Amino acid sequence: MKSAAFEPRVLAFCCHYCAYAAADLAGTMRIQYPPNVRIIRTPCTGRLETEFLIKAFETGADGVLVAGCLEGGCHYTSGNLYAKRRVQYMRDMLEEMGLEKERLRMVNISAAMARPLSDAITDMIETVRKLGPNPVTRNGHKSKTTNSRVEPSNANAPLKKVEKTS
Ligand code: FES
Repeated sequence: MKSAAFEPRVLAFCCHYCAYAAADLAGTMRIQYPPNVRIIRTPCTGRLETEFLIKAFETGADGVLVAGCLEGGCHYTSGNLYAKRRVQYMRDMLEEMGLEKERLRMVNISAAMARPLSDAITDMIETVRKLGPNPVTRNGHKSKTTNSRVEPSNANAPLKKVEKTS
């Protein structure tokens, strides 16, 4: 069910060296993009764990954009290639979880590509607007899952006292 007043909330994980610099340049050039996006600066898209993406959807994001350096241009050599693989994996996972895979997308942006970044954000928001609210948080009901990290069952067990032998 889509609401006429639905305004998508999109998170954009932007790598510090390229995509975040492009967002900064967009501001300097007065290139506008919709205010529905919240940009989170990451050192490199390779730093993104799949649990960060799951957490974004669990906590109310209607869409997630991952924006990294151009392929071959990652300042950590291959972080964006790892991110690409994780995003593809997560897109398949989203479908299994009942979310549309179009809610997650990765783009490769150089620091000079302010306009393409703005276009990518706008296109992402329009895509999510057509899909409607995130079903996980639809009608304001947040997921009952509070922690997407999978902890071993004994993670909170008290530490054993070590006996000295000498
Ligand atoms: Fe930009 Fe790795 S430094 S994606």
